[in-house]
Amino acid sequence: MNLKGRDFLTLKDFTAEEILYLVDLAAELKKKKKEGIPVDVLRGKNVALIFEKTSTRTRCSFEVAAHDLGMGTTYLDPKASQIGKKESIADTARVLGSMFEGIEYRGFGQEIVEELAKYSDAPVWNGLTNEYHPTQMLADLLTIREVFGDYRGRKLCYMGDARYNTGNSLMILCSKMGMHFSVGAPEKYFPEKELVETCKKWAAESGGSIELNTDPMAAAKDADVIYTDVWVSMGEPDEIWSERINDLKPYSVTSALMKQAKPSAIFLHCLPAFHDLGTGIGMQIHEKFGLDELEVTDEVFESSQSKVFLEAENRMHTIKAVMAATLGAFAG
Ligand code: CP
Ligand code: NVA
Repeated sequence: MNLKGRDFLTLKDFTAEEILYLVDLAAELKKKKKEGIPVDVLRGKNVALIFEKTSTRTRCSFEVAAHDLGMGTTYLDPKASQIGKKESIADTARVLGSMFEGIEYRGFGQEIVEELAKYSDAPVWNGLTNEYHPTQMLADLLTIREVFGDYRGRKLCYMGDARYNTGNSLMILCSKMGMHFSVGAPEKYFPEKELVETCKKWAAESGGSIELNTDPMAAAKDADVIYTDVWVSMGEPDEIWSERINDLKPYSVTSALMKQAKPSAIFLHCLPAFHDLGTGIGMQIHEKFGLDELEVTDEVFESSQSKVFLEAENRMHTIKAVMAATLGAFAG
């Protein structure tokens, strides 16, 4: 398997074998990290990290992973660069591509990261766009495999806004990897028809399936993984909270919903999560709508079924695998 020079923009561009290779590599790199074995095989190289939206996990994962691989990092936030305002994406790509061996981009439309990749000589990695969150998927698959020892044939149920980055990407992941993907959401939050059709074709080939359900209990039935994400994503207006709460409250992950899943089921969330009043937005919502918890209850979030912190740790190991593989560190 040789992924040297490849961009990592969406899992649509990767085969099941390539996805599995990256997860295997991440598992190997995780083991080495735990054993204290250095992997600084990319010494002397540098990567640029562009964040037009905020981040804790993705940014820290890229920085720690790059340093572990021996690389230098330059972090660019929207205010600290000319990107998009004084300089086009195409020009930025040609400048950064000449200085850095790789470029991470988190921002808005997928077309921006695609444009960056088109004009950059160096590989470009998607750290989240409105449409996709591919590095998150590798961490999720690694986590599922660590917990169950396998992933094929497992049922993953996604509750909530399924037409955004995380929902779209999970549907792609499951359909390529032979997993059963079910959505629990009102119809207007189902993924776009075209993507559903494409994923159904992949699922037919891989032995997976796609099921869209407006009944949350039916969607969660016998699931191995219950997954949710915030109801309002980065870049969406605050005014939308009221509508989202109204639409998605019945799809909140509660203990009653978890009981519909298998007894061995786990709970995953890409994080950050609104499960208590420990955040500024959580407090504002509480004051306005009287709710203490949103997409997941604190009880589920803190339960032994919840694997969200293992999932968060796995972001780093999987992002390390993406950089190592596309920069040709372990080609063979
Ligand atoms: N899951 C995730 O992407 O987290 P951050 O927004 O903190 O990077
Ligand atoms: N859907 C969320 C994912 C955060 C990791 C967002 O885009 O804000």
